[in-house]
Amino acid sequence: MQERLMQERLMQGGSMQTDTMQAGTTPRHILVVGGAGYIGSHMVKRLARAGYLPVILDNLTQGRRSAVLSGHLIVGEMADRAALETIFQAFPIAAVMHFASHIEVGESLAAPGKYYENNIGNTIGLLNAMVRHKVLRLIFSSSAAIFGNPVYIPIDEYHPAAPINPYGYSKLVVEQMLADFERAYGLRAICLRYFNAAGADPEGELGECHDPETHLIPLILQAASGRRPALTIYGSDYETPDGTCVRDYVHVQDLCDAHLLALQALLAGAGSARYNLGNGNGYSIVDVIKTAEQLCGHGIAQRQAPRRAGDPAILIADSTLAKKQLHWTPRFGDIATIVKHAWQWEQNHFSAAAMPAPVLPAENDKQDDKQRTTLADTLAANDDLAKDR
Ligand code: UFG
Repeated sequence: MQERLMQERLMQGGSMQTDTMQAGTTPRHILVVGGAGYIGSHMVKRLARAGYLPVILDNLTQGRRSAVLSGHLIVGEMADRAALETIFQAFPIAAVMHFASHIEVGESLAAPGKYYENNIGNTIGLLNAMVRHKVLRLIFSSSAAIFGNPVYIPIDEYHPAAPINPYGYSKLVVEQMLADFERAYGLRAICLRYFNAAGADPEGELGECHDPETHLIPLILQAASGRRPALTIYGSDYETPDGTCVRDYVHVQDLCDAHLLALQALLAGAGSARYNLGNGNGYSIVDVIKTAEQLCGHGIAQRQAPRRAGDPAILIADSTLAKKQLHWTPRFGDIATIVKHAWQWEQNHFSAAAMPAPVLPAENDKQDDKQRTTLADTLAANDDLAKDR
């Protein structure tokens, strides 16, 4: 069955994809690696709405099947060379978006090998597969963590990169590798350095659902809704106005807009680039708690704890370059809107009515696991492939 589908694809010109699209053809299939995760799943929805055909590769360790609202989901590992071969042969991929990485700063300090193996090692496999199949456009999810402790604020693209944790190093190494892949193979990549991704789908269908959750806004809202006894504030002795860390929160929907603009730029022939994505506004942990308290209409329990290892005191982006070159205009830059959408998600997705039994996200993921299929199964089931052409 898999062979038959691949033959069909070949006959339709599926493997003839080159980096220069033929005049009059519209490149539509976008491989979204990590497309079942938080930002990836919002991107899949956005791509489909913009008329693209997302092909999602995700191992569902962090991602959830239910978060993939469109496209072809292939459950598999980025490290699986055979899986990548099959995907690139079966679909005429125009560009790749790479969201699949481990993302926890603290964990990266405790288990650096895990971060270097996945975030760097497995990315090399993806890049090699792209080169083999002449798919030479990539949008890479990078991070403000490449900068380490800022030497000036706001942080623009000229700021020196000096990560203070393995997570940040892993992202920086990939950025450096991409420059080499461009020199050697002409692979064009746009690296998007997210500051603090937050918020949720304004239509309420998607949101943040990490397991375990380590990010500030969902944890504040879990404390607000009673799913957690209190928020722990890591460090109140930083050199910031109220002593707590200051971050630049950027709405997941605005990040998706930036990816779409980057994709359009690459498809139109733009060269490689790196952009810092944030709103240019810094909010302390106390500011975010107060915003959430106003929204939910009551106080949120909190307790103080020592600093968390690997946390810079302040991270604020200068996104002038993305605005100028990509014409990126964040639509949900205001912290109240970011927290409001996250709160809607928290209430709708995790409320007692939405989840009558005490089902936690981890249990949903186990459900996903039970439904896990092989790559061959998934491709075999995709008998609607031909319709996508
Ligand atoms: N924080 C708390 N209590 C918590 C969780 C977080 O006080 O329970 C604090 C953190 O110590 C930090 C701030 O809230 O000062 C924000 O923490 P997050 O974990 O939400 O986000 P980070 O700034 O650590 O990291 C995020 C992404 C990283 C990325 C980084 C770049 O998760 O992938 O932004 O800015 F590298």
